[in-house]
Formats: sequence, structure tokens, C-alpha cells
Amino acid sequence: MHSPLIDVQSLSKKYGRQKVLNEVSFSIDEGKTLGLFGISGSGKTTIGKCMMLLERPTSGNIIFQGNNLFKMNKKEVFRIRPRLQMIFQHPETSLNPKMKVFESIAEPLVIYKRLSKSEIRSEVMRLIRQVGLRPEHLDRYPHQLSGGEIQRAVLARIISLEPRFVVADEPTSMLDASVQAQILRLMMRCQKDSDLAYLFISHDLDVLRAVCDRIAYIEAGSIRSIEVNDDKKAWGITRT
Ligand SMILES: Nc1ncnc2c1ncn2[C@@H]1O[C@H](COP(=O)(O)OP(=O)(O)OP(=O)(O)O)[C@@H](O)[C@H]1O
Ligand SMILES: [Mg+2]
Repeated sequence: MHSPLIDVQSLSKKYGRQKVLNEVSFSIDEGKTLGLFGISGSGKTTIGKCMMLLERPTSGNIIFQGNNLFKMNKKEVFRIRPRLQMIFQHPETSLNPKMKVFESIAEPLVIYKRLSKSEIRSEVMRLIRQVGLRPEHLDRYPHQLSGGEIQRAVLARIISLEPRFVVADEPTSMLDASVQAQILRLMMRCQKDSDLAYLFISHDLDVLRAVCDRIAYIEAGSIRSIEVNDDKKAWGITRT
């Protein structure tokens, strides 16, 4: 039987009395991108955070690779954590401002992989080549990089952990159009290289049509429809 990589089942979330998510359900297959489109305040980031275990839903389940995310113990969460990653909207908040780029990219490798110093160094060099950064960027702090360079560094940090699923929460909305296209292309290449699945959050339908296999429309915490996106191929940012 076919089982999706990640299956969101009747997710509801309240903040105090405010109902933010209402029985949200969808699934994403390995290597696919589901777009999430909705106006500000409709609950998009909240869904992403629940999928990353950064928020707990009031009810509902998320099954990832057959595991119920909200029924795992600490040890199981630590084991699964690297496979679930999130790219945030504001580039300046996605890296630790007090860490040089090298340390930021190396940090997850130090935490999750038992590598020697020289192995970490060569892994970081391989990663920055993959995302189009240069060695001189490594010695800088985030405020000394452009928005596009920061998102490249964020991607390097994320792919170092070989994730299976990434929530990309408006990853390019703060970037100008030409840089936006470069980052989207890079994200698609990362996807192709490792059969990564994305939840791609945006309120820009053109961006979603360029990169998504399907697009879910959310309104006031409820999914209104999920549509197959036939436009993807027309944009030339395809995975094949
Ligand atoms: N930690 C919180 N405490 C209380 N309310 C919250 C919290 N986080 C989000 N909300 C509320 O939940 C609703 C959904 O917020 P969310 O951030 O998911 O929206 P969004 O669709 O991502 O919006 P945007 O497009 O502006 O990023 C909003 O009304 C918001 O004010
Ligand atoms: Mg948001």
C-alpha cells in the first residue's frame, strides 16, 4: 500500500480561545512539493511549526515515515529531528547573529554527526560549494551577508543533515526577483539531488506555480481545496 512521507491528520490548534487551525489534513509524498497559499493570519506558519514539533496542536496527528510525531519520546525525537527542517521567512533571524557562517553551518554536524575537525571543515567546504557560497563568506557574521547569501547558508546548514522533509516558510519573499529565482532554483536542485519533500508556504501564487506539484488553499485555518499544479513544467524549474 502506498504511504506518504508525511501525513497530517485533522490538525486543530487553539491559542487561548482563538481557533487558528480547524481539522487540517493533507499528505506529501517523498520528493514532492505541496504549496500552501493563504492570506496573512490564515494559519500557514502554525501548520509548519506543528510539522516541525515547534508547536503542539490542540488535536490531530502527524505521521512521518510511519511514526506519530506527537507520541514519540525524547530519544525518538532526537533521532528523527535532523530529517525535519524549516527555512524561515526572515533571513536575518534564521542564523544565529553571534555565530560566523562557518560555525552556523558546522553546528548541526557537530551535534548530530561524529566527525573530526578536519572532516567537518571539508564537509562545510563541500556544502558551501553546493549552495554557491565562497570560502570568504565563512568568516563573516550574518549581518555581513546579503539576504540571498543568508538563505544559501541556511540551505547549506539544512542539507548537511540530509533531511527528508523541509518546511519552507516564505523563503524568498524578502528577496528581490532575480535573487528569488536563484534561490528557488537552488531549492529545486537540492530536492532533485536527495528526493526531498517540501511544504512551500507563500502568498505569491506565481512562486507556488513555479515550484509546487500541488497547491493547498487555506482560509481562516481551514483547507478549502488542494489542486494539482499543471503549470510547474512551464516554468523550467522542474525536477526532471
Ligand atoms: N504564539 C502565538 N500566540 C497566540 N496567537 C498566535 C501565535 N502564533 C500565531 N498566532 C495567531 O494565529 C493566527 C495564525 O498565525 P500564523 O502565523 O500561522 O499565520 P500565517 O498564515 O503564517 O500569516 P503570515 O502570512 O502573516 O505569516 C494569527 O491570528 C496569529 O495572530
Ligand atoms: Mg507566516
